[in-house]
Amino acid sequence: MSEHVSDSVEWQALQGYAEKFSAVHLRELFDADPRRGELLTAEVGDLYVDYSKNLVTDEVMTALFALAERARLRERIAAMFAGEHINSTEDRAVLHTALRLPRDASLVVDGQDVVADVHAVLDRMAAFSERVRSGQWVGHTGQRIRTVVNIGIGGSDLGPVMAYEALKAYKDPQIECRFVSNIDPTDLWQKTHDLDPASTLFIVVSKTFTTQETLTNARQARDWLLAGLGGDQAAVAKHFVAVSTNAQRVADFGIDTQNMFGFWDWVGGRYSLPSAVGLSVMVAVGPEHFRALLDGYHTVDEHFRTAPLEQNVPVLLGLLNVWYDSFLGAQSHAVLPYAQYLHRFAAYLQQLTMESNGKSVRLDGTEVEYQTGEIFWGEPGTNGQHAFYQLIHQGTKLIPADFIGFSQPNHDLGEMHDLFMSNFLAQTGALAFGRTAEQVRAEGVPEALVPHKVMRGNHPTTTILGRELTPAALGQLIALYEHIVFTQGTIWEINPFDQWGVELGKVMANQLAPKLTAPEAPPATDDSSTNALIARYRAQRGR
Ligand code: F6P
Repeated sequence: MSEHVSDSVEWQALQGYAEKFSAVHLRELFDADPRRGELLTAEVGDLYVDYSKNLVTDEVMTALFALAERARLRERIAAMFAGEHINSTEDRAVLHTALRLPRDASLVVDGQDVVADVHAVLDRMAAFSERVRSGQWVGHTGQRIRTVVNIGIGGSDLGPVMAYEALKAYKDPQIECRFVSNIDPTDLWQKTHDLDPASTLFIVVSKTFTTQETLTNARQARDWLLAGLGGDQAAVAKHFVAVSTNAQRVADFGIDTQNMFGFWDWVGGRYSLPSAVGLSVMVAVGPEHFRALLDGYHTVDEHFRTAPLEQNVPVLLGLLNVWYDSFLGAQSHAVLPYAQYLHRFAAYLQQLTMESNGKSVRLDGTEVEYQTGEIFWGEPGTNGQHAFYQLIHQGTKLIPADFIGFSQPNHDLGEMHDLFMSNFLAQTGALAFGRTAEQVRAEGVPEALVPHKVMRGNHPTTTILGRELTPAALGQLIALYEHIVFTQGTIWEINPFDQWGVELGKVMANQLAPKLTAPEAPPATDDSSTNALIARYRAQRGR
């Protein structure tokens, strides 16, 4: 068996640096090099990335790049882009990058012209979107569509809802999108109770078309529609379209496969927004803006594929995450967008990062002995400042944080944006440099309060500053995080593209469902806790 990355001298060198790192303070690093804030920066597309306020020295960065070489990161990147079956536990290629290749690119994988397939679907999506947007597509009673309801969960929901919210400034005001994901009946009720079925279109999105939550919601939505339109089954064809890789199951559900938009098993659910899964977003913002989103992704894909490791932004940020997680012991990572329209970005990233790198077994089946996937979380600033930032400023935890902001607002109201962005800039400075006891005393603070007002500082942040939150910038931002995840997974030698852990809960839910509804008390399960809870639940449901 070949040596693991974690057995290498490069890994050991980083462990050595980590042991002495508690003595290093960002104040000293900035004092030692007055140009640090200009030098430790990189750019990709519209995104300017300042990583100078991270807990790294030149020697740590050099060691991280050496680690990337040891993990054969370049070769792994090339293998992904070439369509090799790097998702080895599912024997699949990983080709979300092919979804944003330009029409004139060429990529043949497993004997199939992938680019032609991708653009054929994009063209069908565009034609469909234009028909809905123009009012040419009408419902069963001849009314135009006013509301699109996307039914899906996980990757079939989080990407579309995040992008729809992020691109609100670009949406058609005549069409509203809503997103139903939870099998809690409240979700579907809340999103449909005030709608007119005659002007509502459902997009049922499920890669497998087997997901319990999605199919249950879709069936219930179909009943709601038919009840509202007089029960004529022919209405379904005008009000339901599907996005899936599974034509047979779509047909079994009763959706005409003429109204199905396909994608492929080489697109992971959490990487699927730029496929037909983004159909609701395309309907909302129009095909041109959707294509700009894809171009944004592609800009970062090309950068990731070709830029030298030292200037490669996803590589840089991925390596920093490995440094914090596996060497300095950080357990979580905050993502703090200073852009109201990005209010679902952290939720989206949670699936992208945690379903991908929440693994503890390497590709070769051995157990890792270091920390992998960190907990991603966050809220838009400045709201977060008045909620959880205190813990980052003065708590005991190491929490690297990404600050994401834009120079131009989507809606400019006087000087509000400048005030907003002064918070953005102030926070990373306060986190890095804090306030010493001398500074606090110099302000005349009574001695007993000094320790409470001292800000230790040395809290690492990365600043990502874009020009404006456009479709292209959003695509760049998403691709950036996708490739950060890939970089981390490669160093950890895990597979970021499977999700076996999610399966057990699904199987158990299906086994338990009949026990909740059976008229007679059901046979006991294996554990006393679940038995007691089922008994109480049934009693409260009158069973
Ligand atoms: O949560 C597990 C998962 O398989 C995700 O990876 C996926 O995005 C989600 O379920 C939904 O799956 P599908 O698109 O097949 O309904």
